[in-house]
Amino acid sequence: MNKSPLAIAVLGSGKGSNCQSLIDAIAAGRLNARLVGVISDVENAYILTRARQNGIAAEFISAAPFKTKLEGEAERRYIATLKAWGADVIALAGFMRIIKPGLLAAFPNRILNIHPALLPAFPGVEAWKQALEYGAKIAGCTVHVVDAGTDTGPILVQRSVPILDEDTPETLHARIQVEEHLAYPEALQLIASGAAILKGRRFYFRGTATPK
Ligand code: GAR
Repeated sequence: MNKSPLAIAVLGSGKGSNCQSLIDAIAAGRLNARLVGVISDVENAYILTRARQNGIAAEFISAAPFKTKLEGEAERRYIATLKAWGADVIALAGFMRIIKPGLLAAFPNRILNIHPALLPAFPGVEAWKQALEYGAKIAGCTVHVVDAGTDTGPILVQRSVPILDEDTPETLHARIQVEEHLAYPEALQLIASGAAILKGRRFYFRGTATPK
């Protein structure tokens, strides 16, 4: 039996290349989903332009007065918009704010994030730069469920890349982004198909290992 497409809303603050990877994966039939809307906390973020170019609802919703988190009246406006769009899942794609309990409670275990490092190493901002400065030899990306911590929730998908001697923060981030654009559609398809089963903080995938 075919499942109905997963209704995904995307939150982002930047250029939106991960949002584009979801649009492309849906168009290619690799992700059984539809993007119901995109919200940005940055008025001129390119992610909003991309969404509009693809006929997807796109809204700037200010998160002021807070600088690094989404809380209070702004959080309530985000929740109302996401509910009005009928979102099943929220995909954070370069959304540079901490998600607080109000939004977490509105979409329990239904908020995903893509992080540019192999968690639990290098949580927080500019994770690729942290990995390079630390002297790590392998970097990558992680798609995980968002919980009350910073980049601490259950992991769905990870993909790795080498760190090369000649890397700059920019070249390493670009290499990680190539993998992000594969990992995010893959992770969301695991949710869309119903294959992903969460036990404790560990995901199992129907058809592979059996949950213990
Ligand atoms: C991505 O590399 C994503 O992993 C990162 O921001 C970039 C957004 O790129 N997110 C974080 O650092 C979250 N802590 P995009 O706007 O092109 O998708």
